[in-house]
Amino acid sequence: VDVKNVHRTGYHFQPPNNWINDPNAPMYYNGVYHLFYQYNPYGSVWGNIVWAHSVSTDLINWIPLEPGIYPSEVFDKYGTWSGSATILLNNTPIILHTGIVDAKNTQVQNYAIPADISDPFLRKWIKPDNNPLIVADVSINKTQFRDPTTCWLGQDGYWRTLIGSVCEKKGLAILYKSRDFMKWTKVQDPLHSVDGTGNWECPDFFPVLLHGTNGLDASYNKKNIKHVLKVSLDVTRFEYYTVGKYDTKKDRYIPDKTSIDGWKGLRLDYGNYYASKSFYDLRKNRRIMWGWANESDTVNDDVKKGWAGIQTIPRKLWLDPSGKQLVQWPVEELETLREQKVQLSNRKLNKGDKIEVKGITPAQADVEVTFSFSSLDKAEPFDPNWANLYAQDVCAIKGSTVQGGLGPFGLLTLASRNLEEYTPVFFRVFKAQDKYKVLMCSDASRSTLKNDKTMYKPSFAGYVDVDLTNKTLSLRSLIDHSVVESFGAGGKTCITSRVYPTLAIYDNAHLFVFNNGTETIKIKSLNAWTMGKPKMNWSFGHSSY
Ligand code: FRU
Repeated sequence: VDVKNVHRTGYHFQPPNNWINDPNAPMYYNGVYHLFYQYNPYGSVWGNIVWAHSVSTDLINWIPLEPGIYPSEVFDKYGTWSGSATILLNNTPIILHTGIVDAKNTQVQNYAIPADISDPFLRKWIKPDNNPLIVADVSINKTQFRDPTTCWLGQDGYWRTLIGSVCEKKGLAILYKSRDFMKWTKVQDPLHSVDGTGNWECPDFFPVLLHGTNGLDASYNKKNIKHVLKVSLDVTRFEYYTVGKYDTKKDRYIPDKTSIDGWKGLRLDYGNYYASKSFYDLRKNRRIMWGWANESDTVNDDVKKGWAGIQTIPRKLWLDPSGKQLVQWPVEELETLREQKVQLSNRKLNKGDKIEVKGITPAQADVEVTFSFSSLDKAEPFDPNWANLYAQDVCAIKGSTVQGGLGPFGLLTLASRNLEEYTPVFFRVFKAQDKYKVLMCSDASRSTLKNDKTMYKPSFAGYVDVDLTNKTLSLRSLIDHSVVESFGAGGKTCITSRVYPTLAIYDNAHLFVFNNGTETIKIKSLNAWTMGKPKMNWSFGHSSY
């Protein structure tokens, strides 16, 4: 096999080679989408970080440009780390990002502006001499002080930004204010902080409408909204978010009572997903979230592959009508890649049945399925002890093969013909004391025959807060060689897995629908498409536009 390419993705964002991590400063400006990202020009492990830069007009096809920001000055000589873009009132973009100034990892916040605002691709960025704009005061740990957010403008005419930090294990979103964007002062108290959560990386803070799916600019602040605060926890390598209220008088954020604040909070994605960042897309009046999916194979594998890391498909995001959580869905532009299509409807699945979905390329596909069932009576009891576990632990116990009542049912993705390898994405419905609990899993434990104990093969899972009165459950999976990105119940629960099959590759990958529960399930409808290959960072920007 071709180790360099066998697990390369077909339609996910990737450069031709080398290491990538966080998406940086995503924005829409003058008809063009920009994505910067943390990139090592010299290898496929983390290091030598610059801001690689790609542009697109559709979020699907990407043109690579020269790095937009890279270490060169005293204020960023040791690294140009993550940051965000803000569109100023005069309609010019500005980037705030973290510079590493010495070998001791001292972090400061710098700005960069386009060298030529008339260049449609904004290829060159200038880092003016009055950098750094923000340095840590004595109360701040200057080696954990990074990743400024998109700025928002308060009614008082002051811009604000958040910087992620930590103080004695208390995660902090430190707030800074500025009238002119150049002179910044720290607000006494952080916008928000939580004991015991460790360092907060890549905070993201934005308003969402109470009703509807439209997005809002970061500065929007009327009565018809809530705010969302998302942080990345470097101890556990996952992110959580809360929905709450931004008190602009006190400059404090207060999560709603229904939002758990801390380790067990809601996640944008219950799988391999980190350092996400959103932006407001004026073109389609929506908020879009980008997130990084790291490799789950070993560093050794990454060196052999010559590449590591992908960006997940950008997701439109909005507040669920319940007001309690976000909903996410792949941007509609992705559908332009859909090619051959197969459809199934009204197919029964008894216990132990599996149906193969034929006629598409299962290694590179988009699958949408709605399941229905006639009763909830057979739902398995929910063990009260599991209440203290993460969903992922419950998935590891029950999996896709342990027979259940209502479920497990779902998809077997990236499966070899005889199921030596497969990544099941499925639901199990439990009956807890006073309500049903829907578990959604994306289980990598049998994804590969590769016998490497250091490979990461977690049984990722999350609960789906969904109303089962109409007795249906829907699932969408974006399958792309080494990634399976799944959206349960229309995007209420999302899970991304990175997997490395050895048999289920290229044309030898299969896709099945299965049921291992005693309750008969119906495939109400299933649509699956072969996905085409976009222009993914192939051609340089000085060619045609
Ligand atoms: C998150 C992160 C950021 C930092 C960047 C460095 O993955 O650690 O906190 O700015 O990556 O590459």
